[in-house]
Amino acid sequence: HCDSSLVGKKVVITAGATLEKIDPVRYISNFSSGKMGWAMVQAFLQRGADVTLIYGKVSVNIVPFARLTTIHVASAQEMLTVAEHEFSDADILVMTAAVADFRPKNYCPQKIKKVTGNDSYQLELVKNPDILYTLAQSKKAKQVVVGFAAETNNLLANAHTKLSNKGADMIIANDVSQDVFGSDLNEVTIITKDDPDVKLPRMNKQEIAESIVNHIIKLNSK
Ligand code: C5P
Repeated sequence: HCDSSLVGKKVVITAGATLEKIDPVRYISNFSSGKMGWAMVQAFLQRGADVTLIYGKVSVNIVPFARLTTIHVASAQEMLTVAEHEFSDADILVMTAAVADFRPKNYCPQKIKKVTGNDSYQLELVKNPDILYTLAQSKKAKQVVVGFAAETNNLLANAHTKLSNKGADMIIANDVSQDVFGSDLNEVTIITKDDPDVKLPRMNKQEIAESIVNHIIKLNSK
């Protein structure tokens, strides 16, 4: 169709898992596939937007498209640096990335060895920056910031808290008590400050992404 509401708009999307190195051969990460983020990329491209994808560890193929810029990062700190830079002239930010809450306090430049007689090993972790929160603090009035909230319990209450605590304009609440990681299906509720919650039916991630984009366009044109 010929909806051109996003032509000339810059959309920044983060996707996949961050990867936090322990030593040259080991890391901490998570099961995020990047599928939801990649579906968001497709949906925004279809609507004419210029998309910048910042992606970590993913199990989807990131393929080139016109109007798509891709930037690969590993850690949460790298993702923050790149996202801050890209967000400064963006219209919309969508954080689908599963950012590790913690990273190893120290990176060990040599492979950590087993020590004979030691049956345990303590790895100290420190908190990663909250990228969504950090960027939302510098948000200009016209910029729209969208986050995801994966929850196993009290889905809507937790998502509403996240909306206000993080300073986001929209949170996509996602029940992960069923297996959604790596799945093509998802079931989400769209949460904003002023509008009633919108629960979308269980459908594939592409259809969900298209519906989310429609709701973002509504917010962006307010
Ligand atoms: O707090 P929680 O991790 O549940 O929030 C999820 C949302 O916040 C997602 O949009 C995720 O991309 C974003 N996030 C972030 N930086 C973090 C943790 C989460 O931007 N360190």
